[in-house]
Amino acid sequence: MRRFKKGMALAFGLGLLMASSAAQAGGTVEVLHWWTSGGEAKAVGELKKSFEDQGGTWIDSPIAGGGGDAAMTALRARVVAGNPPTAVQLKGPGIQEWAVEGAVADIDDVAMAEDWDSVLPPVLAEIMKYEGKYVAAPVNIHRVDWLWANPEVLAKVGADVPSTWDEFNATAEKLKAAGITPLAHGGQPWQDATVFEVVALGLGGADFYRKALVDLDMEALKSDTMVKVFDQMRTLRGYVDPGFSGRDWNLATAMVMNGEAAFQIMGDWAKGEFLAAGKVPGEDFLCAPAPGNAFILNSDSFVMFEVSGAERIEGQKVLASLIMSPGFQETFNLAKGSIPARVDVALDAFDDCAKKSHEDLTAAMTGDSLVPSMAHEMAVPRSVRGEFLDVVTEHFNSDMTSQEAVERLVAAIQRAM
Ligand code: BGC
Repeated sequence: MRRFKKGMALAFGLGLLMASSAAQAGGTVEVLHWWTSGGEAKAVGELKKSFEDQGGTWIDSPIAGGGGDAAMTALRARVVAGNPPTAVQLKGPGIQEWAVEGAVADIDDVAMAEDWDSVLPPVLAEIMKYEGKYVAAPVNIHRVDWLWANPEVLAKVGADVPSTWDEFNATAEKLKAAGITPLAHGGQPWQDATVFEVVALGLGGADFYRKALVDLDMEALKSDTMVKVFDQMRTLRGYVDPGFSGRDWNLATAMVMNGEAAFQIMGDWAKGEFLAAGKVPGEDFLCAPAPGNAFILNSDSFVMFEVSGAERIEGQKVLASLIMSPGFQETFNLAKGSIPARVDVALDAFDDCAKKSHEDLTAAMTGDSLVPSMAHEMAVPRSVRGEFLDVVTEHFNSDMTSQEAVERLVAAIQRAM
């Protein structure tokens, strides 16, 4: 395993001595992640178990907080203190940002020996590499643009899952008139941004999404379409319950489960939540792609950080190889709600939501409508994402006009570039 830039680390003499005296066949990993909800904990539990089954020692470092913002703050503090975790749930441009800082270990020898290039979609393989070498191992493909619905609640107003935002609004009005909360939402910046990017895709299509949220094209950012996106956000604000502020995403999912609300707009980690509660897709809950006819990509991956000590380095290799093994990719993703990152894992054991995700992903790759998630750190640097989140959240929680939101967004992105 070739290491990037020596010297980032690590004066943890005593800790290392203790670790090496308890050496295990599969090495030791300390894993920093943010998988703490019911479905997430079940999925990461599969990883822990498989690692331990191979004789490894797993030190769990969960940092609660959906979307991973708290985890990223904790990671920064650990690296600055010279004590990075061995493996970190990290993704998108964040992988490159840490690699540029010289903080990550290269796992290219494992990747080459196992020929990862031949089993990963090229778009994903690209994200996992720095200067042509693998520095991250992907666990899954999550889709962000989903609507989750409670069929019994929809039946009360004689509605189906909508396929345009106009239809969504019409159904939401009916639900509201019947005293039902149309949209389960958690008012946290990353959740606001998740809804925002799904609306942007639905109203503007993949080209607009790519220009505005990935390429940061000023014309797209200040366009009438962007004004309409904020208009729809304002409309959605009228469909959430009074207790939305600060709510965790999995509690919003529970509202759909319990029939307290009709819909949630969320990535398919929400399906992991329904499944962990014993709910059956197509019966207890419905999944449908949100309007947009495209696919917003979010992929979780693990990055190995630059650490010293043979046992930890061994742990990193074992973990990287385990993550990419076909058997693990199946077990993990059945629990997580996502689909495997590897293209050669059969989906026979997966439900119809997963099969739909795979079908639409393939169509989006051929039709050039696959776009990376801005809200989930797949599209733009963290600093730029932060600007989007600030404006979107401020608009959602005030009476700011759409025009003003657009002006603020343009100014903020210009500043951040
Ligand atoms: C991650 C998912 C996670 C979700 C909520 C997303 O950014 O990719 O794995 O379940 O945040 O915490």
